[in-house]
Amino acid sequence: MKGFELISTGGALPGRLVTNDDLSRMVDTSDEWITTRTGIRQRHFCAEGETITDLAVKAARQALERSGLSAADIGCCVCGTLSSQYASPSTACLVQRDLGLAEDIPVLDVNAACSGFIYGVGVARGLLATRENDPRRYALVIGCEHLSRLMDMTDRSTCVLFGDGAGAAIFELTGDAEFAIDLGARGDMAITTPAGGPIGMDGRAVFRFAVDALPRSLGAVLAATGHTIDDLDWVVCHQANSRIIDHCVKKLQADPDKFYKNMDRHGNTSAASIPVALNELAEQGRLTPGMRIACIGFGGGLTWGGMVLKVKGSKA
Ligand code: ACO
Repeated sequence: MKGFELISTGGALPGRLVTNDDLSRMVDTSDEWITTRTGIRQRHFCAEGETITDLAVKAARQALERSGLSAADIGCCVCGTLSSQYASPSTACLVQRDLGLAEDIPVLDVNAACSGFIYGVGVARGLLATRENDPRRYALVIGCEHLSRLMDMTDRSTCVLFGDGAGAAIFELTGDAEFAIDLGARGDMAITTPAGGPIGMDGRAVFRFAVDALPRSLGAVLAATGHTIDDLDWVVCHQANSRIIDHCVKKLQADPDKFYKNMDRHGNTSAASIPVALNELAEQGRLTPGMRIACIGFGGGLTWGGMVLKVKGSKA
């Protein structure tokens, strides 16, 4: 199996900050209910005129700049999203255009809802692996969402949960680095969200699914790499609900400090949540060369995805 290492990250959040108190003036809810049930305190929504394409391009450009690579080095571009600006072109094509990526590389969007970034990594790695004679061994993977566009702002059971944002990362396909990925779906558990919104879900069913899928997927990728949670520096879960992560920590009897949380500041940004979290860790100097991390997502579909990978470089 070919390894896939994390090289760099980028992120972008839109301009309109919406607190729980702001929402409690719009629907019958309260800061107390939202905070205790979800851990969310605020989220960012796209302001008038701001688009998800702008955010995706900004995050991708930042990841590319920080990688020290040039646009010509990128061998594929995959964008996880369920809320792209256009049905066509894909967001990935617009990123290709704005960053000046090569013409002769695969560029596409992937829709696996909140698991979209992990699915995107799996697709990108597969694409690079099939292009054996291509010297471009780097993949640009983005997760971006404009969920506020798809929300019914009169439905308190969903409108308090989600936020907008974008995160991006660059990976290198390498011969020997350790890597494992676990992807799956339960289409039989689907609740439909019509194209164009509003978002539909059965919150309790998703919760039950998540507290089962997260530890199972983490277990699968750890088994595949021969490691235990003790060998991980970070576990970056999809940031849907603080209580879902707490359940998993308890079930796994794991160190809660390894499980990064930022849903208090961003809400659930679906496919963007894991790359936004990785980017925050990197910007805080807490994601450093040689670290071994796990990322685990779950979401609409229902889908799940987990991976274990290394940050390129040796530990200091
Ligand atoms: N403010 C105040 N009260 C509320 C709100 C709100 N915003 N929303 C629901 N309530 C009420 C309900 O009406 C219900 O009242 P009742 O008991 O009088 O009927 C009560 O609060 C409890 O509702 P539950 O749905 O049982 O609350 P729960 O503790 O399950 O929390 C939540 C709901 C936060 C949605 C939780 O189930 C969850 O996080 N689920 C996972 C959701 C998720 O991760 N979704 C993202 C992936 S799926 C996708 O992408 C589509």
